[in-house]
Amino acid sequence: MRRKLAAGNWKMNGTAAQLAELTAMTEVANTEQTDVLICTPATLVNRAADTASGSAVAIGGQDCHANASGAHTGDISAAMLADAGASHVITGHSERRVDHAETDAVIAAKSEAAYANDLIAVICIGESLQERESGQTLDVVGTQLQGSTPDAATGANTVIAYEPVWAIGTGKVPTLDQIAEVHDFIRAKLVERFGAEGEAIRVLYGGSVKPSNASEIFAVSNVDGALVGGASLKASDFNAIISALDEA
Ligand code: PGA
Repeated sequence: MRRKLAAGNWKMNGTAAQLAELTAMTEVANTEQTDVLICTPATLVNRAADTASGSAVAIGGQDCHANASGAHTGDISAAMLADAGASHVITGHSERRVDHAETDAVIAAKSEAAYANDLIAVICIGESLQERESGQTLDVVGTQLQGSTPDAATGANTVIAYEPVWAIGTGKVPTLDQIAEVHDFIRAKLVERFGAEGEAIRVLYGGSVKPSNASEIFAVSNVDGALVGGASLKASDFNAIISALDEA
């Protein structure tokens, strides 16, 4: 009932040459059961949208400002991303929460800006290692989910990405039981708050997903796909992850 989603986050990587990888992804992506999304640096959104035009790969940004326009040097608005050809935007990635001190309230406002411009918000949440080790994972994830997700969230405008901070770019992955525990918890919270729409909102796992672990992660309950960093930069890796999701 929920379509699966393979989402890539290129982070601060890639100039025009990187678009060759995107071209190779468009050749494998198909819309049968898996949606495919690549979130490029802002400088590439327009060209990536052209490259992916007519294919099953959607293009997204990695952040947007909460305001529509104004004196915010260096920022970009959701309207600008939409104008450049994006259909999605990541909000609240842990690197933004840490590097730019983004709070749940700021992330909710950015997600609302996304909705106002018909962008799908991919809202990221996840605990730090210290929070995991002190037994606060569900508290932290629950608080971030509540505070970062706008009341207007639906299955059509929102994707949640659970990304344990300690698993991002580290090669460390939670056990499948740990992933299941958090994803089941997120699903229960979404249904409690949004009813049927809470069933429709997709919940991705993110953090060191690669071709070799994708299949087992995609078999976990309430995992509707992945948000992939490093392994989304190479078509050979990301295409294998798309295939793993197609077969899950
Ligand atoms: P990673 O990053 O796949 O390189 O761990 C995931 C993310 O930060 O979205």
